[in-house]
Amino acid sequence: MAEKKKTAKKADAKTDKQKTDKKITAVVGATGAQGGGLVRAILNDKHRSFAARAITRNPNSEKAKALADAGAEVIAGDVDDIKSLKKAFDGAHGAFCVTFFWEHLKPEKELSHARNMAQAAKDAGVHHVIWSTLEDTRKSIPLSDDRMPTLMGKYKVPHFDAKGEADEIFKELGVPTTFLLTSFYWDNFIYFGMGPKKGANGKLTITLPLSTKKLASIAAEDIGKTAYAIFEQGDEMIGKTVGIAGGHLTGAQLAKSLSKALGQEVVYNAISPETYRSFGFTGADDLGNMFQFYSEFEQDCCDARSISETKSLNPELLTFDRWLGQNKDRIPLG
Ligand SMILES: NC(=O)c1ccc[n+]([C@@H]2O[C@H](COP(=O)([O-])OP(=O)(O)OC[C@H]3O[C@@H](n4cnc5c(N)ncnc54)[C@H](OP(=O)(O)O)[C@@H]3O)[C@@H](O)[C@H]2O)c1
Repeated sequence: MAEKKKTAKKADAKTDKQKTDKKITAVVGATGAQGGGLVRAILNDKHRSFAARAITRNPNSEKAKALADAGAEVIAGDVDDIKSLKKAFDGAHGAFCVTFFWEHLKPEKELSHARNMAQAAKDAGVHHVIWSTLEDTRKSIPLSDDRMPTLMGKYKVPHFDAKGEADEIFKELGVPTTFLLTSFYWDNFIYFGMGPKKGANGKLTITLPLSTKKLASIAAEDIGKTAYAIFEQGDEMIGKTVGIAGGHLTGAQLAKSLSKALGQEVVYNAISPETYRSFGFTGADDLGNMFQFYSEFEQDCCDARSISETKSLNPELLTFDRWLGQNKDRIPLG
């Protein structure tokens, strides 16, 4: 019996040692798209020197249990609760920080969540943070510029602006941060109600206010994969802004690829941002302004998100066609 106990103790110690030998990466949003991609990227690397610590509000959820079964350490944490974040970041080498605008639709909440994460990372002495950010569009379109409406009193694209504004929080607090400028997920065609819908002419249609401009976009899973590459590169990435995309695609190109993948014609219906904003679904005004920003600042948005640089970090980066090859059956057709 005593011998058995000893062996068990030894095994525990070995597990702990294995854990501490690796660079622990604490991942906020681990059961979601961006964080989930990072956890999977870490766990799929057989020669990894990193360990994944998945942060979730509910370690007993099916998704959290699946991450634990796959080899992640799962730990409770809530971006509303700085104490829980400090615990979750304790002993971590890296932390992936992301906010969840669409859960609450409040840019001020994103700012306070970003501050909690930045402060917790600082207090826990985390060596490398990746902050998942987007542009503060007000630097390009000041509130006084009435080409698009000001929303919620002080934003142009609320779910972009608060993230961009929060960059300063990480800088002010002196947190060693890489600013990961993400882009539009192709997964929105599956989950965000943006899939092709039957138009009045009976044809499947994607309706976007992009005119003939290119949208910088990406497979959500590639965000986490690229974040992992940034953690692997380490110190040299601290202080940098890394913009990522898998494609710079016009509405017509998106429709052409969808047609090929789905085996039926999908047409692109270009509408004005005003029309898009008037659709009335939750966030339509925010998204209308976002698409207007992407199209009016097409060059800046695409230049800030180099496909070749993303691919050099993440050689498995998917194109839209390859993403469709893997996901076409999951796109609901309205
Ligand atoms: N859709 C796009 O095209 C796009 C493009 C660029 C950026 N973004 C941004 O991406 C962000 C969302 O990231 P995502 O798509 O990876 O999220 P997601 O897939 O919606 O996942 C959200 C995850 O966040 C966790 N979560 C929610 N509230 C939390 C809280 N208070 N504390 C801790 N965890 C919490 C949830 O996990 P538990 O339930 O397990 O706690 C959930 O699994 C948004 O801010 C959005 O603006 C979206």
